[in-house]
Amino acid sequence: MRIETVAVHAAFSVDPSTGAVAPPIHLSTTFGRDEAGLPLAGHTYVRESNPTQDLLEEALARLEGGEAALVFGSGMAAGLAVAQALPPGSHVVLPEDVYYAYRVAAREFFPAWGLTVSFAALDEPGALAGALRPETRLVWLESPSNPLLRITDLAASAEVARSAGALVLVDSTFATPILQRPLEMGADVVLHATTKGMGGHSDVQGGALVFARKDGLFERVRHVRTILGGVASPFGSWLVLRGLRTLAVRVRFQSESAFAIASALALHPAVSRVNYPGLPGHPGHETARRQMSAFGSMISFHVRAGREAAIEAVGRTRLFTRATSLGGVESLVEHRATSEGVASTAPGDLVRLSIGLEHPDDLLADLGQALGT
Ligand SMILES: Cc1ncc(COP(=O)(O)O)c(C=O)c1O
Repeated sequence: MRIETVAVHAAFSVDPSTGAVAPPIHLSTTFGRDEAGLPLAGHTYVRESNPTQDLLEEALARLEGGEAALVFGSGMAAGLAVAQALPPGSHVVLPEDVYYAYRVAAREFFPAWGLTVSFAALDEPGALAGALRPETRLVWLESPSNPLLRITDLAASAEVARSAGALVLVDSTFATPILQRPLEMGADVVLHATTKGMGGHSDVQGGALVFARKDGLFERVRHVRTILGGVASPFGSWLVLRGLRTLAVRVRFQSESAFAIASALALHPAVSRVNYPGLPGHPGHETARRQMSAFGSMISFHVRAGREAAIEAVGRTRLFTRATSLGGVESLVEHRATSEGVASTAPGDLVRLSIGLEHPDDLLADLGQALGT
């Protein structure tokens, strides 16, 4: 079955008891037991499992081609649950351009969890091999990366990591399973901030991990979630389920628009560089063509006249909404260094765009007037 069909049907079955076509939301926090004390239907307490979370996990596992999934209250909670499941003394390799809050977490929290960390330009050949140590247990990849849209060769990196005995996690939030399926390229775990494209309407926060195998790693991460409590709420899970049903059509439309907008921006005199993996001049273009079916809804670009000019251009947008986040139906624009704050390593001249469902001509007209044409 094609991914578009899976996205619609993965969480869809007519409820035989009511005939309902849309899935129900089970808000119950606790679940009944029989006379012998056994759970009546497998669930005991919402922090462990819940029928609405189960439905979302099944859908995500199918979409990514994994054996099992776990959903969390945010993308941060999801990703960091994997780090928390590692034995103390483990070394973790992270990409230089990892989503900034993971960088903050690695610096501020990993030491207390007994983890050491190295950052490397994992989009460059040879960088991963140079960063590995005998105690490396996890290689964390993010492709395309946030905010520089760097592309990492997932299959090649997974092979290098595997030969060193390290697990591979891929943050595939920018791609969604519609455009990229990291488990097929050798990853052990795929991470998504479901807050983004999967939710798709800027109204739910969530995170997800999809595991290639339902093995010891899955069990340890599930234990972290149950005890530390970062689980997705039933209502949040339901909103993501709702988003999944239109994910494919949104992502394809957004990717087409983003390609048109990135191509036009690349010719704009006020723009010195556009970071979009669909552009032939992007250093990761060939790799992106191999491992993605289209190039996604995210673009970043550098304003030639520098930081102040970038901030002013963002301030002049009228149709784009000035806000952080991504993957929603409305297009967003931000001066990335300002959004990330003091921990930011984003260049001062960088503007980040999340392309929504408006007509690309209208979005381009807005960018044109903001940049001065
Ligand atoms: C690539 C990426 N991964 C993870 C996250 C974290 O997700 P959340 O904000 O739901 O914790 C984000 C948030 O922007 C992100 O862009």
